[in-house]
Amino acid sequence: MPGKTVLEIGCGTGTNAIELARRGYQVTAIDLVDLAVRRAKDKAQRAGVDIDFRVGDATRMDLGGPFDVVFDRGVYHGIRARNLSGFRKMLKRVTRPGSRWLTLAGNAKEPTANGPPVVSEDEFRSELEPLFKILEVREFRFTLDRDDSRPLGWSILMERR
Ligand SMILES: C[S@@+](CC[C@H](N)C(=O)[O-])C[C@H]1O[C@@H](n2cnc3c(N)ncnc32)[C@H](O)[C@@H]1O
Repeated sequence: MPGKTVLEIGCGTGTNAIELARRGYQVTAIDLVDLAVRRAKDKAQRAGVDIDFRVGDATRMDLGGPFDVVFDRGVYHGIRARNLSGFRKMLKRVTRPGSRWLTLAGNAKEPTANGPPVVSEDEFRSELEPLFKILEVREFRFTLDRDDSRPLGWSILMERR
C-alpha cells in the first residue's frame, strides 16, 4: 500500500497494527476497549515496535492526520447499523483526497448465525462511494480466534475522492 502513515480503527489487541508497524508504517491505532489497548501495548513492546495507541470512540476524538492509509478489520460492518453518519464524518476528518482506506467486512452472500455482521455489495457501494472511489473488491475468508469457522468477507480498497 503506498504511503507512510496508517490509522487503524478498532485495533483490538493490536495484531494488525503491529504487523503494519513491522512493515515500516508509522501507525496510530485506536480502540474503545481499554483492556484491549493495554494488551496491544504489551504486545507492541515485546515486538519492539513503536505505535501511537489511543483509547476511545474514534467517531468522537481528534485522531490527528490526515493519514495516508486507514485500515479496519471488523469495524465498518458493525458500526454502520449504529452510527454510519458519525463513522463517515470521522473518515472524512482523518483522510485527504488520495488517502486509501482498506476495510475488511462480513459478506452478506453467506450470513451465519455466529459470524460477523454482514454487508451486501449494493449496501457498501451506496454507503461508501459518495466519499471514496472503490479501487478493488475481493472476497476472502476471515480467520477467527474463537473457533474454526471461516466466514466469508469483503476486502474493500478505496481512495478518498
Ligand atoms: C470485530 S472487533 C475487531 C478487532 C480487531 N480489528 C481484529 O481484527 O481482531 C471490532 C473492534 O472495534 C472496536 N470498536 C468498535 N467501535 C469502535 C469505535 N467507535 N471506536 C474505536 N473502536 C471501536 C471494538 O472495541 C473492537 O475491538
